[in-house]
Amino acid sequence: QSELNGAVTIVVLGSSGDLAKKKTYPALFGLYKNGFLPNNVHIVGYARTKMTQEEHIERVTQYIKPKSDEEQAKLQQFKHINTYQSGLYDQAESWMQLNQVLEKLETERGLTLASSRNRVFYMALPPSVFIPVAQGIKQHVYNDQGINRLVVEKPFGKDTESSNELGDALGALFKEEEIYRIDHYLGKEMVKSVMNLRFANIFFAHAWDRQFIDNVQITFKEPFGTEGRGGYFDEFGIIRDVMQNHLLQVLTLIAMERPISTDIKVLKCIRPIKMEDTLLGQYVGDGNGKPGYLEDDSLKNKASRTPTFAALALFIENERWEGVPFVLKAGKALNEAKVEVRIQFKNVPGNLYDNTARNELVIRIQPKESIYMKFNSKQPGLSYQTIQTDLDLSYHDRYTDLAIPDAYESLILDVLRNDHSNFVRDDELEASWKIFTPLLHTIDDPQQHLPLVTYPYGSRGPQELNAFVQNFGYDRSDSS
Ligand code: BG6
Repeated sequence: QSELNGAVTIVVLGSSGDLAKKKTYPALFGLYKNGFLPNNVHIVGYARTKMTQEEHIERVTQYIKPKSDEEQAKLQQFKHINTYQSGLYDQAESWMQLNQVLEKLETERGLTLASSRNRVFYMALPPSVFIPVAQGIKQHVYNDQGINRLVVEKPFGKDTESSNELGDALGALFKEEEIYRIDHYLGKEMVKSVMNLRFANIFFAHAWDRQFIDNVQITFKEPFGTEGRGGYFDEFGIIRDVMQNHLLQVLTLIAMERPISTDIKVLKCIRPIKMEDTLLGQYVGDGNGKPGYLEDDSLKNKASRTPTFAALALFIENERWEGVPFVLKAGKALNEAKVEVRIQFKNVPGNLYDNTARNELVIRIQPKESIYMKFNSKQPGLSYQTIQTDLDLSYHDRYTDLAIPDAYESLILDVLRNDHSNFVRDDELEASWKIFTPLLHTIDDPQQHLPLVTYPYGSRGPQELNAFVQNFGYDRSDSS
């Protein structure tokens, strides 16, 4: 079941949407131009909107900016391996038409044997149509004799129960090995590098536990609000949008045991989050024209209490991590774009030198990918002062010719290669929802009226944040 034998048709469902034009098609082109798509490949976009082939291809390639004449020529070729078919998501007839289009294209490409007709279905769709689309595909477009793969994008439900329902519905149609649940953070270069950092460096392997590490901070900051996405966001909020998935994946990689056991174990040891370990916020206007969350036109509920910022302390109850807070922080409309992990080590016992700061290992996921260690050394020269400096691996300085692939490129390639290791497994998904569901239900319950602090658009976040992180052990004495 694993080899595509050089031939595949990739069907992008929801190809008229935002995700398709911003991520899926640019990633497909990235793979195509570097020769990573199979030789015999065709891409079929499918969505409800009626459009001509030309309108569709212009739409899905609008974010692709060729950097040379050669790339420009490749883009023209790429356009020729694309087709668009419009149809409904809940009508058998539309799906049968799609199947006919696929068969015709496959025949034209010399794929006469049914067993050579491999199909990848990429769902770039809103959650409301996941199930009807999966059913339509299974009944009318799935090729029993070839390889079929289904790529699904989050949100995978809103809590444990709805995620299980979705999982059961998909599981009744597709085998687990046919399903690829994308969490695009797992495709990011620096997220993938965590394992090598931990397990290929002997000094980390032995200092990676509660004896040496005081606290861990995993931060996600975005400098823009939810402008235009208020409809989606208000239903989900920041915890479901980026924490239950992206940041928890990062936490898992930081905290898991050597891969001889599985990562799922660590998730099962996280105790449910308590309200007192939580700080929730929502942004307000900056007084200079940047709108507050509630002022967004796309937001229907003008009294919404959906958090756009959250800081949560998670505790892993196992031998390695007992008592070490893992603080997840995420916010929209902040002062900068930054995603990073800070692993703050304990104080050096004995205090031989003044002015020593804690060691801190920083993994900068984006932008400016880097790994650096804050450490103490003697001030060079005649002084005996201790100063803080960095051991610094900045990818753009060290690997000057490197073009870091987009997360989606690397993940689509994994799908073609049948490599599930960077996708979300069903048991992992269930464990991650268990951690967040009780808290989310409390937040969603209007009777509870949980505290929600405010912060101005473009600020560093709520004022209360400093005290919050300090309360969980973070020593800010030498931190930016
Ligand atoms: C998505 C969220 O999953 O991730 C968005 O829905 C968020 O709200 C995005 O902006 C962040 O991804 P990246 O790759 O830009 O860090």
